[in-house]
Amino acid sequence: MNDIREFQERLSEHTKTAEEIVLRYLVSVTGSADAIPDRKDVLMHLSVAEAMNYSLESGGKRLRPMLMQLTFELFHGTNVQILHPFMAAIEMIHTYSLVHDDLPAMDNDLLRRGNKTTHAAYGEATAILAGDGLLNLAFETALLASEHCADAGELMRIVLALRILAAKSGIRGMVAGQCIDLASEQGVRPADAEKTLYFIHENKTAALIEAAFMCGAILAGAPATSVDRMEEAGSRIGHVFQIRDDILDVTGNTATLGKTAGKDENSGKLTYVSLRGLDQAKEDMEDETEKAVQTLKEAGAREEDFIVRLIRYLTYRDH
Ligand code: IPE
Ligand code: IPE
Ligand code: MG
Ligand code: MG
Ligand code: MG
Repeated sequence: MNDIREFQERLSEHTKTAEEIVLRYLVSVTGSADAIPDRKDVLMHLSVAEAMNYSLESGGKRLRPMLMQLTFELFHGTNVQILHPFMAAIEMIHTYSLVHDDLPAMDNDLLRRGNKTTHAAYGEATAILAGDGLLNLAFETALLASEHCADAGELMRIVLALRILAAKSGIRGMVAGQCIDLASEQGVRPADAEKTLYFIHENKTAALIEAAFMCGAILAGAPATSVDRMEEAGSRIGHVFQIRDDILDVTGNTATLGKTAGKDENSGKLTYVSLRGLDQAKEDMEDETEKAVQTLKEAGAREEDFIVRLIRYLTYRDH
């Protein structure tokens, strides 16, 4: 079997595993609208829960939980009972960020993961609430890890991982990146476009990827220096991931991407391609990937390990 085919097979196995773990923590849709047909509040509540599951179940690469699991394994973590709730939590946060990212007030997209965006399927109000619901469900889920910790040391790791997850997804992380991303639409170029773009990518995308690496390492019991290293690797990989996302918006097609191609140019977004051009973008991706691989190798990863192959794949992924 050739190398690429073998890698693709392993990738779909890992995706399936991550997905199966994430979906264990879906919200249960309780009650029946039929029972109380004139209660609009009940209907709304049911449809928000349904919309949360719709967005979470509709596919996606499951990259963040996968990276968390691979990092946990890299540091020889053993108690998967504390890992799994965190894998689900990070995918819930990522999914909520996509639900909101697609809203008319943000990127105004109708297609996501090959399906209708959540607001296109359920309406705007329900999609906003579904995003809010997913964000809270994420922390509720991550906290389930505390029911499975073996000792006080493990409990401390859970607390630290929660702090990282909260900070990286909030106003000092993903939310901050989304703010500046939106502020730099419609061709408005800030004075220092390069610095601004770095800030956007670091926060809207890299922050959550850093959280995936850091939580995997922390929950496995890695020392602080290794966690810092994983933050650095996550940052580089996060930048590569968003550069590739910007490239695919230009070179990819809607069917393969499962989301609308060509959106960034249409809305005059500040992207890596609009700033540096396609060739430079590709070159910078390769450089960053090499540095990230080096950092992972310092932490014990080998060239043939799946985590290293996955990171290399991110520079040529097609969706
Ligand atoms: C899309 O993330 C948003 C970005 C940060 C670029 P993914 O490309 O990981 O989306 P899914 O989860 O596979 O749908
Ligand atoms: C989205 O970036 C980043 C987050 C959702 C945090 P994009 O707006 O570029 O992502 P896509 O292209 O819609 O997936
Ligand atoms: Mg966006
Ligand atoms: Mg978008
Ligand atoms: Mg994009």
